[in-house]
Amino acid sequence: MGVLAMSPGPSKSVADAALAKAAPSNGATKSPKPQVASRAPAADPIGRLRDRKAAALAGGGAARIQAQHDKGKYTARERIDLLFDPGTFVELDIFVRTQATTFGMEKSRFDGDGVVTGYGYVNGRIVYVYSQDFTVLGGSLGEQTAKKICKVQDMAMRNGAPIVGFNDSGGARIQEGVASLAGYGEIFFRNVAASGVIPQISVIVGPSAGGAVYSPALTDFVVMVEDSSHMFVTGPDVVKTVTGEEASQEELGGTSVHTVKSGVASFSGLDEDDAIRKIKSLLAYLPSNNLSELPVIPPSDDRFRMDEALDSVVPDNPNKPYDIRDVIGRVMDKGSWEEIQSKWATNVVIGLARLDGYPVGIVANQPAVLAGALDIEASVKAAKWIRFLDAFNLPVISFVDTPGFLPGLGQEHGGIIRNGAKLLYAYCEATVPKLAVITRKSYGGAYIVMSSKHVGTDINLAWPSAEIAVMGAEGAVKILYKRDMQKLAEENPAGAKDLAAKFRAEYQEKFANPYVAAERGWVDDVIEPSETRPRLIAALWPLINKREQRPQKKHGIIPL
Ligand code: HXC
Repeated sequence: MGVLAMSPGPSKSVADAALAKAAPSNGATKSPKPQVASRAPAADPIGRLRDRKAAALAGGGAARIQAQHDKGKYTARERIDLLFDPGTFVELDIFVRTQATTFGMEKSRFDGDGVVTGYGYVNGRIVYVYSQDFTVLGGSLGEQTAKKICKVQDMAMRNGAPIVGFNDSGGARIQEGVASLAGYGEIFFRNVAASGVIPQISVIVGPSAGGAVYSPALTDFVVMVEDSSHMFVTGPDVVKTVTGEEASQEELGGTSVHTVKSGVASFSGLDEDDAIRKIKSLLAYLPSNNLSELPVIPPSDDRFRMDEALDSVVPDNPNKPYDIRDVIGRVMDKGSWEEIQSKWATNVVIGLARLDGYPVGIVANQPAVLAGALDIEASVKAAKWIRFLDAFNLPVISFVDTPGFLPGLGQEHGGIIRNGAKLLYAYCEATVPKLAVITRKSYGGAYIVMSSKHVGTDINLAWPSAEIAVMGAEGAVKILYKRDMQKLAEENPAGAKDLAAKFRAEYQEKFANPYVAAERGWVDDVIEPSETRPRLIAALWPLINKREQRPQKKHGIIPL
């Protein structure tokens, strides 16, 4: 049966629809009565069921829901309603309660126990969800809460569907002690088991503190919301005690920290609506699991579209920057570009797009930032992205314009060798279709790393402006003709300058072009920039059925 045919259609979820007769209000305004185990049964069984479900839908009660709204935040259920196609959400474990009896917990038993779990359709495909309910004991994680989350993680894995987790929690439930910690451990274990099998998306819609941050960190995408999400391993008070540093929650782990400085967040929304809209958009590009077909859509753009503007996008002056996103936008299907981590390590650009309706991943040097040089953060950013794309069979399309790895003490001491190796490892390891377009500079180690033929790239194209060489003309001439130049500079400084210019021109002519590589077949073709789109699409056609086997092993040892 088709997906649409299975979709019930009404605007309320399945659970809500069933309760419509029972609950006088939408539950959000229902009174905050914890459900105590000794509660007397209702007069009739169906009435009792409706009564309990209505109470569960009320979460921590009207006052706490109001407090949540006053902070500009949605409730756990409102978030779910926004995520799923109308009427398709099916809730599980609505009656699960804490079994703890310590610290008065027997009097604080809420049906649902601080997290709403289940599944439904997003863009017509099944997605599992857990949504922490801050109105119930601060969304804290107890033994039963963890079991509910683990159950949907297991189901998502078994049924090969993505999972989205809304994180809004005070962390480990203090009253449940080690059982809460154990629960986190069980969740982390499943996060890792699911890695590379199903897409995992964490949405931070409130606090995410302590070891709890490691579940989002283990997932593929971390989405934050401006002003209302915070992630930190230790909060402001602990930081002040231990290091003496004073910082607000926002300064320590707000959206601007994790989207710009730490790279923890993949992207953020201006508000929760915006974040959820972006998640739905992201899911549309992803396969349901590592073995399923990619979500290919009928092409919305002309596959033979040429773009004359690309012929002049690279400036005549090789040191002048341009924005590689302009190239990506002109080549990919119109309106299909979704950038990831757009504010962190911006010297490399990553994201998802469609090419002739086919979802693809992009990795591009950004000449407008650090001249497109690869540094530690850019290497790590691109490496993780390529591994994600490879795990989910999304082709990797690279746009290359980089003068090489960034020189300097800071980079060397920070481990550019170890971190640059991650990028090399990721490109070599990836067996998905790999396409590359060299737009301008491709120097030194970065030539090899950035999806060269030597790391298994299927089709390498170059624009006539490509410069493939060990290094730029300036540096090369200084090294090659050092002695001659020094001697001449003492005797005839003006003549030395002229000679240097002559050597540079000679070097440029001999090496800094795409033809030396093309003559050896390491560049498959030199193309006119305007024909990049049809040429990439034609390159992709035969690769859709690509199969590449590597020797069996438990796993490689990526240089972490
Ligand atoms: C039990 C908790 C709780 C927790 C909050 N609550 N955190 N209950 N265990 N961890 C309850 C509060 O008692 C309160 O209950 C309700 O949730 C709302 O909390 P408030 O403090 O009133 O809300 P707010 O002012 O918005 O502050 C939110 C907060 C704060 C910043 C999250 O509650 C807080 O600092 N909580 C503790 C955070 C923490 O240190 N957690 C442990 C992290 S270590 P009532 O009944 O009044 O509504 C950890 C280890 C994981 O998580 C290890 C994994 C390996």
